[in-house]
Amino acid sequence: MTAELTFATTRREDPVPAAERETILANPAFGTIFTDHMLTALWTKGEGWRDGQVRPFGPLQISPAAAVLHYAQEVFEGMKAYRHPDGTVWTFRPERNAARMARSCERLALPVLSEEDFIGAIRALVTVDQAWVPASGSGESSLYLRPFMFASEAFLGVRPANEVTFSIIASPAGAYFPGGMKPVNLWLSTDYARAGAGGTGAAKCGGNYASSLAGQMEGIAQGCDQAVFLDSSTHTYIEELGGMNLFFVTRDGKLRTPALTGSILEGVTRDSILELAPDLGLEPDEARIGIDEWKDGVASGEITEIFACGTAAVVTPVGELRWDGGSAASTAGAEGGEVTRRIRQTLLDIQYGVAEDTRGWLTRL
Ligand code: COI
Repeated sequence: MTAELTFATTRREDPVPAAERETILANPAFGTIFTDHMLTALWTKGEGWRDGQVRPFGPLQISPAAAVLHYAQEVFEGMKAYRHPDGTVWTFRPERNAARMARSCERLALPVLSEEDFIGAIRALVTVDQAWVPASGSGESSLYLRPFMFASEAFLGVRPANEVTFSIIASPAGAYFPGGMKPVNLWLSTDYARAGAGGTGAAKCGGNYASSLAGQMEGIAQGCDQAVFLDSSTHTYIEELGGMNLFFVTRDGKLRTPALTGSILEGVTRDSILELAPDLGLEPDEARIGIDEWKDGVASGEITEIFACGTAAVVTPVGELRWDGGSAASTAGAEGGEVTRRIRQTLLDIQYGVAEDTRGWLTRL
């Protein structure tokens, strides 16, 4: 596929003043503040992609009959732009996000955007908003990028939309969890599943996240931060957290993660950690992992560390697992185990240009 889109730029007349922007960048939270600009493009059946624009950040005008509002025909991605010590700005494995978005689009019957257009769009927005990428050396801060695509056609019949909007917004981001490296406690959701066989679990679509919220609410009511979801058929195998994949470090040097079954999201961070594992002296192992293996493994000392990972969360230590009537103790200490911290630092060093990118994972924006 070749690039179909070019982007016309309209700059915001009243950008956030530099001093205010610097205050925001010095201490960004997650997902609350957005840059001066956004990107949009339109697709219509028979005509393809057109009308690429980088324009002032602001409300989208859509019909209340837009199909996305009724039938959730929508997909999204999560990526980051990192500033390196020499001031240049880079992103991490964007071709992976482009490919995953294409797979999500196929599953949700949305049009596919080529890798060239996807990366071209990221570059077009970050070029205009590059002052919003936090300075090198500012801890874990980056510019979080949220590409998304939705059915914007006003039509209430149930069929794939004939008009679709692609957009990217950007948000300066610090740690996803306010506690930073403080371990997150997890609730084992047994009443709810996030996704089922043949469903949309492997796609990055809003519906999966919506369906994880009731389990998350249940967990929060029990004093936890997130919920763990099991497979929907047998309620025995660990899947993911809803917005993050899970890893287990074992006493005999394995780095285990649930195998992709079609109902688990194929995380870019997950894949990168599996690739980095041998460099860190760990044996990667993708397998069906029963929830009893977690409970028993923690009790016997077979599991030494557990962490969650994702673009937003990077690598976050997992503490206690709680369920109705019991709990499995934390293996994480106050700031995660040694292996968890080493994996996290290895990844961050590559992303922030501190360690050599021997795998060609970085793309300059
Ligand atoms: C990401 O990690 O980028 C996601 O999209 C997950 C979400 C929990 C923020």
